Amino acid sequence: MRDVKLLDIFTHPIAQKYLNRSGLAHAIAVAYHSFHLANEYNIDPDIAAKAGLLHDMGHFTWYRNGKWDYDLYKQNDIHPIKGAERAHKLLIRLGENPIKAKTISLAILFHTDSFLPSNDIIRTPLQQVVKWADEKDEEEGGKHHYRKIDFLRAKESIMNLDKLIDEEQRKRLSS
Ligand SMILES: [Fe+2]
Repeated sequence: MRDVKLLDIFTHPIAQKYLNRSGLAHAIAVAYHSFHLANEYNIDPDIAAKAGLLHDMGHFTWYRNGKWDYDLYKQNDIHPIKGAERAHKLLIRLGENPIKAKTISLAILFHTDSFLPSNDIIRTPLQQVVKWADEKDEEEGGKHHYRKIDFLRAKESIMNLDKLIDEEQRKRLSS
C-alpha cells in the first residue's frame, strides 16, 4: 500500500548521517507526535510521520573554535530549506510517490518560522501538525537535539511506527 516505509528511510545512509546530526531521538519523537496528531486531524499518517522523522535533516553544524555557536546559527540557519531539499531527494531515490514526496518536503520547509523574515505563513493542516509535533518535543536551549537513543532501540521504534501506520491505513480503508 505504501511505496516507502519509515524503515526504508531510516536505514538509508543519507538519513542516518543527517538524523544523527540533529538528534535521532528527537526525530523519532516528532515522527510519533506527527502520527498521533495526523490521526486526530484526519490527515494521512504516513505523510505526517515521514515529515516528522525528516523535519530537521537540513541542520548544519554551526561551530566556532570547536564549540556550538548559537548566534552564528540564528543568523545563518536555513535548515528547513536544506531539509526540504534533502528529504525530497532521498524520498524520490527510495521510490516515493512524487506527489507525496513534494507534500512531505513542503511540510519540512514550513515546520518553523525561524529562518523567515516574518511569521505570516498560512499553513495547511499537515504543515501545522508537523510544526506542533516539533514544538511538543522541544526542550529549552535546543537540548532536544542532544538526547540519545541507541540504534537498535531506534530501529524498533521505527518498525513499530510503520506497523501503527499500516494498521491506521487499513482501518480507514475499511471504514
Ligand atoms: Fe525539530
